[in-house]
Amino acid sequence: MEQAVKQDTQNPQAGTAQKVALVTGGTGGIGTAICEKLANLGYKVTTTYRNEEKAKAWQKEMNDKGLDVAIYKCDVADHEDSERVVKQIAEEFGPVSVLVNNAGITRDSTFRKMTHEQWRDVISCDLDSVFNVTRPIIDAMLEQGHGRVINISSINGQKGQFGQANYSAAKAGMHGFTKALAQEVARKGITVNTISPGYIATEMVMAVPEEVRGKIIAQIPMGRLGKPEEIAHVVAFLVSDGASFITGANIAANGGHYME
Ligand code: CAA
Repeated sequence: MEQAVKQDTQNPQAGTAQKVALVTGGTGGIGTAICEKLANLGYKVTTTYRNEEKAKAWQKEMNDKGLDVAIYKCDVADHEDSERVVKQIAEEFGPVSVLVNNAGITRDSTFRKMTHEQWRDVISCDLDSVFNVTRPIIDAMLEQGHGRVINISSINGQKGQFGQANYSAAKAGMHGFTKALAQEVARKGITVNTISPGYIATEMVMAVPEEVRGKIIAQIPMGRLGKPEEIAHVVAFLVSDGASFITGANIAANGGHYME
């Protein structure tokens, strides 16, 4: 079904040069679903990784599904490394027109036990990365007169979470960035939006102690964790022509766990 989309008249790429998408941290749970979705929509999908062995195995799995995703070793917490990889992608495939800032980590701890390292690791990887990767891409989007920037934030940036002062700060910061940049590029054909997933069945959420996780799931009106595909569908909507008037928005996909 997804494969058929490639030939589908709804394919935004039909009859045009293949557009390039960069999904940071694409080898993770939500990232994988987003890469698959964008590849099936006809994008040339590229992604960054830190763990070579995991990334190579992941790439083979994608190949086995008929999806060709280019992978780049890159620490998005590092400004120079991010610039280098964005340049390399542009040279190999052309300018990025869809950027999904998805890379993120957790280092959960109550604030009184939180070390400076736990704070810095999360702010660097989850928030500094948004600057590091978007900054070298935005000029090319402006030149093309088209672009989609999608920041994958979190319900916990909206409501806060016990044990996540670092993560909640970074994720709330992402949406502040979205709203500021959205205003700066709104007249240039570029939209900038945030998606705030709730608790999704990924390794990150499965790392929460089972007892704590059970209590969290009990608070979700839908009574279950979300699926990575349920976030990828929102990305597909935001990159579509139909979403052209949506910018600076924060779209929650959380099973009713938090409502603003
Ligand atoms: N609200 C209020 N009090 C709480 C609480 C809560 N949510 N959770 C725990 N407490 C209390 C405990 O009852 C305990 O109280 P007492 O000392 O009076 O007994 C005290 O706080 C200490 O709690 P813990 O024993 O749990 O402390 P810990 O150091 O062992 O663990 C923690 C702390 C690591 C933060 C752990 O509670 C935890 O993992 N919580 C889950 C955090 C979470 O939701 N992370 C999300 C990860 S997934 C993700 O981030 C993806 C996404 O975007 C959604």
